[in-house]
Amino acid sequence: CGIVGYVGKRDSQNILIEGLKKLEYRGYDSAGVAVFTKDGLQVKKSKGRLANLESKLDEAPLNGSIGIGHTRWATHGKPSDVNSHPHTDNSQKFSVVHNGIIENYVSLKEELIEKGHVFVSETDTEVISHLIASLYEGDIVKAVQQAVKRMTGAFALGVLTEYEPEKLVAVRLASPLIIGVGEGENFIGSDIPAILDYTRNVYILNDGEMAVLTKDGVELMTLEGNFISRELFHVDWDIVTAEKAGFDHFMLKEIYEQPKAYRDTMGARLDPSGTKVVLDEVKMSKEQIGAIRNVHIVACGTAYHAGLVGKSVIEKLARIPVEVDVASEYRYRSPIITPNTLVIVVSQSGETADTLAALREAKRNGARVVAITNVVGSSVAREADDVIVTWAGPEIAVASTKAYTSQLIAFYLFGLYLAQALETQDAAAVAEIVAHLKELPEKVERILEQAEAIKEWAEQVSTHDNLFFIGRGLDFAVAQEGSLKLKEISYIHSEAYAAGELKHGTLALIEEGIPVIALAIQDDLFEKTVSNIKEVKARGAHVFGLHTEGETELAKSVDQVFEIPHTLPLLSPALSVVPLQLLSYYASLARGNDVDKPRNLAKSVTVE
Ligand code: G6P
Repeated sequence: CGIVGYVGKRDSQNILIEGLKKLEYRGYDSAGVAVFTKDGLQVKKSKGRLANLESKLDEAPLNGSIGIGHTRWATHGKPSDVNSHPHTDNSQKFSVVHNGIIENYVSLKEELIEKGHVFVSETDTEVISHLIASLYEGDIVKAVQQAVKRMTGAFALGVLTEYEPEKLVAVRLASPLIIGVGEGENFIGSDIPAILDYTRNVYILNDGEMAVLTKDGVELMTLEGNFISRELFHVDWDIVTAEKAGFDHFMLKEIYEQPKAYRDTMGARLDPSGTKVVLDEVKMSKEQIGAIRNVHIVACGTAYHAGLVGKSVIEKLARIPVEVDVASEYRYRSPIITPNTLVIVVSQSGETADTLAALREAKRNGARVVAITNVVGSSVAREADDVIVTWAGPEIAVASTKAYTSQLIAFYLFGLYLAQALETQDAAAVAEIVAHLKELPEKVERILEQAEAIKEWAEQVSTHDNLFFIGRGLDFAVAQEGSLKLKEISYIHSEAYAAGELKHGTLALIEEGIPVIALAIQDDLFEKTVSNIKEVKARGAHVFGLHTEGETELAKSVDQVFEIPHTLPLLSPALSVVPLQLLSYYASLARGNDVDKPRNLAKSVTVE
C-alpha cells in the first residue's frame, strides 16, 4: 500500500492524487482520499485503479488544503469501495490511512464492538480509526500514541481529526514513511517519489517514531513523546530511481525485500507463544483434514517450483501423499480427483488462466481448493474455498523472487497446520520448526550481505551459453527454480538435473569449462551429491558449490564455494534460492539485458 498526506495552503486534492500516482507501483486495487472541506472531513474512495477515484473527484471535487490519501494492495478484506482507505470512526471525526498489518486487530475489534462501535468494513485499518476515537480526550497526538501502544504488527499511519483540523499526525512502526518539508506546506509519503514533485527536503522516520505536521512546521518525536531533532535529507535521485527505493531494478529491490516478506507472511500466523501455527483463514475442520487422502498441487512457472518444495513439506510433516502438476497439463491428464482430494493452487497474481482452469476442474470434481496467492481478491482467491495470502507486497519484476519465497513460507505454515490437526508431529517437533522459521529472515539478510561474491560468479557465468544446476531432493527443487530464473532473464540456456540422474544421459554434455552450479545443502544427501560433483569435475566442468556454513568438505571437490547459514534441511530452500536469484540478476545485468522486463515474457499470463 502507499500513503500520502498534505498540509499547506494549496488545494490538497490534486497533490494527493499526483502523489498516489507515484505510489501506484506499491499496490493498485483501490484508492481514496480524505480532505478537510468547509463541510468537515470528507472522504471519497473507489475500488480499482486510481483513475476511478480521479473521475469521482472530477465530478465532485473535495476542496481543502489538508488531506490524506491511500492506494491499496489488499491484505485484510477484498478490494471494494468500503474496504478502501481512508477509514473513519462512527462519529466521522477521525480519518486514517494505513500501510502494513495490524496483527491483533481481531481482538481489538471485538473489544470496540463491545463498547458499541459499529464497523462497516473487513479491514484491520478501520479498527485503528475507532481505537483512536475511543482514546481521544482533546489531544490527537496522545490518542495516537496510546492507540499505537495497543496495536501489534508492522505499520505506518496518517491520521486526521476534525477536532484539530490544522494537524496531520504520522506514525512509523516497521513500514516506511517519510516527511517532505516545503515552505508553508509539508507532506507525508510512504516513499520519496510521492513528494518529489514538491520538495527534495525530507525527514526519514525510523521505526517507533512519529511526526506532527502543520503548514508551518514539523515536529518529530518518539512514540513515547520525546522530541527528536534530525538533519534534513536532501534527495538528489530522479523519480525513476526513487520508485525503486534506490535499487537499480525492481528485481533487486524485491530480492532485498525478502526478509520483510518472510516476516509479514509469518506474522500473526505464528502463535505468540512461538510454538504453533494459527491459520484462521483456512476453515477446515479436524474431520475434514482427517478425511484428506491425497493432495494435488497445481501451478505454473515459479509457483510450480514452490509446489515442488510444498510436496516435500506436506509429505514430511503431514504424511499425506502429494502430486505436483503444471496447471496446463493437469486438466488434460484426467487427474484422479475425489471429494477426499485437497487441491492447492499456487499463483502470485491469482489470475493465471491455466491455474484458474485447473482450479475450476478440481472444484467440478468435488475437491476442496486452497489457494496460495499474493493478490487478495484475485480470481483464484475468489474461487478457492480457503485462501492463504503471501504478504510479499506487489511484485513488479517479471521474474518472481519474493513471491516464490513467500509461497515457500506459506507451505511451511500450511504443512505445520495439517500436522497439528493430524497430530503427525509432536509439539516439540512443531516448536522446533517454528523456531527455525523465525530465524529465516535474519539468515536471508546474512546471505544478501554476501551479494558481491555471487556477482563475481555471475560475471564468470555470463560469458557461457550453457550451464547446469545439480542437486538432490530439495536441493533439486531449488536447482529447478535457479535454472528457470537464469533462463528467464539472462537468456543463458541451462538445465537443472537431479544430481544422481546425470550419469544416465546428460553427463554426455559436460565438457571442458562448462559451469555447473551444485547445491549440496541437504546433510543426508551430501556425500552422494559430492560423488556426482566429482563426476562432472572429472570431465572438465567448472563447479560452483553451495553448502552449509561450517561444512568443510565441499571446497575440496569444487572450484568455488558459497556458504548458506544453517537451518533445518526442510527449510533450506528459503535460503539457498537467494544466491541463485542474485546469480541470475547479475548475469542478466552483465549481458546488458532488460532485467525487469525480459523478452517474450509477461508477469501474468491470462491466456491458456
Ligand atoms: C508467468 C510469469 C512467471 C510466473 C507464472 C505464474 O509465466 O512470467 O514468472 O511464475 O506466470 O504466475 P502466477 O501469477 O500464477 O504465480
